Amino acid sequence: MPTREFEYIDWEFDEESGVGRVRLARPDALNALSTPLCAEIVEAFEAFAELDDEADGVAVRAVVLGGEGRAFSAGADVTEFAEGRTVPTDVYEAASNFAGPVVAKIDGYCLGGGLVLALDCDFRFASDRSEFGLPEVGLGILASGGGIGKLAAAIGSTRARELAVTGERFDAERADEDGLLVGRCPADELDDRVESFVETVAAQPPLAVRATLDLAAFHETADGARLYERRLDRRLRRSDDHEAAVRAFLEDGEAPTFHGR
Ligand code: COA
Repeated sequence: MPTREFEYIDWEFDEESGVGRVRLARPDALNALSTPLCAEIVEAFEAFAELDDEADGVAVRAVVLGGEGRAFSAGADVTEFAEGRTVPTDVYEAASNFAGPVVAKIDGYCLGGGLVLALDCDFRFASDRSEFGLPEVGLGILASGGGIGKLAAAIGSTRARELAVTGERFDAERADEDGLLVGRCPADELDDRVESFVETVAAQPPLAVRATLDLAAFHETADGARLYERRLDRRLRRSDDHEAAVRAFLEDGEAPTFHGR
């Protein structure tokens, strides 16, 4: 089975089934989306696209994206915020721009940018012990990468707005009720559940699968909103409230008071 060497992810492709697998492998930091990890995620999907380009027909029938340890991903690497860095936005396009179906396999924390990454996938399955949320608001910023729009498309704008402005953390049962997930099960059944779904999808005519998902994404994409989001994001990252929230996280300090400046 072909594999490729990366530092922060595991990558493999099963030629027989046409299924690719990527696993974020930075468990000590709960798979927080550091700049090098994001670069590898982008490369991982480019590698799948290359396999398609080289094949006579479609090589990659589905990709499963998961995380090692206690998290799918705990979101943006907050330590990088202190250095003025943000999650490179191309990571949020890696999965959604990939032509084939991408399935997020979530076992554990799926927060902030981690949730946005999961929303970039076409389908989400989660273990019962998973936890979700958009904590960005508490850090004085917004969920970038088109997070708000994607969440609204997945679960409806009323609940998406509530989650985005409260930073509420919710469990897998609620995520399932909200319509975020295709399926939910105990952690020890998650692999089988995802494999069985992927096997079903991989057996369908790939061009029809891809066209269907392409059309679904077309209905949900709002490029104008993305540009506006970047402008708002830049403004928020210069605010005192954001700086205070990041400092409190890094120093494990008391929750700061926000002054709106
Ligand atoms: N960025 C950078 N490091 C992170 C991180 C993040 N988003 N989330 C977790 N980590 C690190 C922790 O700093 C800790 O590192 P350490 O062992 O070197 O101290 C390690 O991952 C384990 O996290 P810890 O907080 O000890 O685990 P926990 O089970 O007590 O709490 C969370 C888990 C997810 C609730 C908590 O880590 C958290 O709130 N993380 C931030 C989530 C967030 O705000 N993400 C969105 C950013 S926009």
